[in-house]
Amino acid sequence: MMQISKISITEQIYNILKEKILLQDYEIGKKINTKEIANEFNISVMPVRDALLQLDNQGLIVNKPRVGFFVRSFSKKEIIEIMEVRKMYEVYALENHFATINIKEIERINILMKDFGKDLTREKFDQIDTELHELIINASDNDFFIESYIKIEDLFVIFKHLNKDRMGNSHHEHLKLTESIISGNKEKSLDILKKHLDQVTDSIIQNIERKQKTG
Ligand code: NI
Repeated sequence: MMQISKISITEQIYNILKEKILLQDYEIGKKINTKEIANEFNISVMPVRDALLQLDNQGLIVNKPRVGFFVRSFSKKEIIEIMEVRKMYEVYALENHFATINIKEIERINILMKDFGKDLTREKFDQIDTELHELIINASDNDFFIESYIKIEDLFVIFKHLNKDRMGNSHHEHLKLTESIISGNKEKSLDILKKHLDQVTDSIIQNIERKQKTG
């Protein structure tokens, strides 16, 4: 019984902290105060530490012994490498499993995107972005492939927030991508996807470099 309740508190704290990191409520590089979090939720420090160790395992947090926990920051090289792996996964899935993409879902997303028009919000955009890229991955129908993509997905969710000024362009590229998938044009779809991911990567790097200059 004790074990179960402890796990559930840790899991709840894990989810709360992960959300804060992914939404960048906790800025990259920020030190995380375990005592403050424990006090806020009226719990002991242990489950907070356990949650942070899980996030450390996932690569979202860095644990510096005797110093504390920090939201992980990424070098330009790391960003390029993570985005290269992402591209590998998505291009592979689109190339080898084009025929099994859920077209009904792609059509639904395409209609949703057209409806957004000028009311495109960050929230709507993020949701569509995640759904569209996951549909490509899910076309593989390969559980190991999908699971390993999901493991790195959290890392590039953080990068999304370094990529805010590109939302309109990405939206346009998503529209073109869905349209070429619906029309059955695999080569064109691959081309759009590759360019989209390259441009996202460039924009993230530019933003990181701008931040480093000003900060
Ligand atoms: Ni996208």
